[in-house]
Amino acid sequence: MTVFYKKLNELPKEMSGFIHMAGALADEMGINAYVVGGFVRDIFLGVKNFDVDLVVEGDGIAFASECARELDLKLVSHKRFGTATLHGLRGFKVDIASARREIYEKPAALPVVFKGHIKDDLFRRDFTVNAMAISINKHRFGQLVDFYDGHSDLKTGVIRALHANSFIDDPTRILRAVRFEQRFDFKIDKATLSWIKSAVRRKMLHKVQKHRLRDELILMFKESLPLKSLRRLWGLAGFSYIAPSLRFQKEWQRFFEEAAKKAGWFEEHFSHKRHLEPYVMYMSLFFYPLAHKELSQAMRDFAFHKGESSRILSFRENFTRVEKELSKKNVRGSVVYRIFEPLSYEVALLSAALSKSVLVLKRAQDFLFVYNGQRIHVKGEDLKRLGVKPGPHFKNILDELLYAKIDGEVKDKEEELALAQKLIQK
Ligand code: CTP
Repeated sequence: MTVFYKKLNELPKEMSGFIHMAGALADEMGINAYVVGGFVRDIFLGVKNFDVDLVVEGDGIAFASECARELDLKLVSHKRFGTATLHGLRGFKVDIASARREIYEKPAALPVVFKGHIKDDLFRRDFTVNAMAISINKHRFGQLVDFYDGHSDLKTGVIRALHANSFIDDPTRILRAVRFEQRFDFKIDKATLSWIKSAVRRKMLHKVQKHRLRDELILMFKESLPLKSLRRLWGLAGFSYIAPSLRFQKEWQRFFEEAAKKAGWFEEHFSHKRHLEPYVMYMSLFFYPLAHKELSQAMRDFAFHKGESSRILSFRENFTRVEKELSKKNVRGSVVYRIFEPLSYEVALLSAALSKSVLVLKRAQDFLFVYNGQRIHVKGEDLKRLGVKPGPHFKNILDELLYAKIDGEVKDKEEELALAQKLIQK
């Protein structure tokens, strides 16, 4: 029994059961099947990975359909790429592809794809550590397929591209090299570094499709310590392909640390309220030095999702105002509420994290712990009974009642109704 056989069997029961089943099915269909890529890398590193990547030397979609039929799973297939995803497995997802060979006819463009063997499929990949496979057919279950010495690079902690053109073919791999190097505390190998530098000199990162760059950037911000990667990327490639005037900022060290602390604090106290997205906080910090016009341009060029770009822009537009208004003395609770309420939690927390005044932090805490959950007793029905017709006025009165409650000016329904009457008369 190989050590890899053992490793596959040590995976969570459902996952390892699925892999055995897929291997048996491949046997029945007379094709070779493998687990590949980051999934194999993470098995060796002992890192949990819930994205199982399978490659078959044959028709990946037909194989995926059989798996789906056998286990009664949902299948989403992408005919153009010969790939399919299985959904409905408990706690993990499976991507299945046909082994393929890729030819890059134009630098930085998508490759032309041909059916191929596992060796071709591994050769088209980014780094040796991501270019290993393990057989899952029964008679070879657990055999490592490692044409490019990925296992040895994994042991010594090296990020090594497979050939000199790797970053010309796919410049987003520059970001990936940095991201994996920093995530695993590895080192990019010397020749690979020189290939990266050459691709940077040829401005390949300016030529790649922006949405592909965006997806890699987002992955970088989702790492647990994104600043390490940003520093390394700045040293290797700068940021001009993201926005011409963007530079690495010395203050980021402190800002990112503060942002991480605030995000941790939020998770501790408010994870029930909403799932926080710290990566959006880091992206907001990253883009903050840009002038508004350049920032809007970058948001458009990269076509960030609305949820991301709106919070990045919101931080850029609101931070100075929030800082100015909330670092004053004697600010009423209702004013704090009105400033924070329209902002996302990410923007509010980041403002508190970066502010020079502790008052802003204190007020963000008051907002989250106290004001944010405040409710009034008076309802729309009560206002109707007092003769108010539904319309904008309606909401204004309810808002005023809430502000009064936050400021401690009304305590119960009776006092709220009395104030409502006064407001109606106004
Ligand atoms: N890959 C590649 N070049 C890219 C993107 C992906 O060669 N530009 C290959 C790598 O072999 C990688 C696999 O496709 O392992 C799967 O890609 P992805 O899911 O992005 O990467 P993972 O290695 O699984 O990384 P992560 O742990 O961040 O999910």
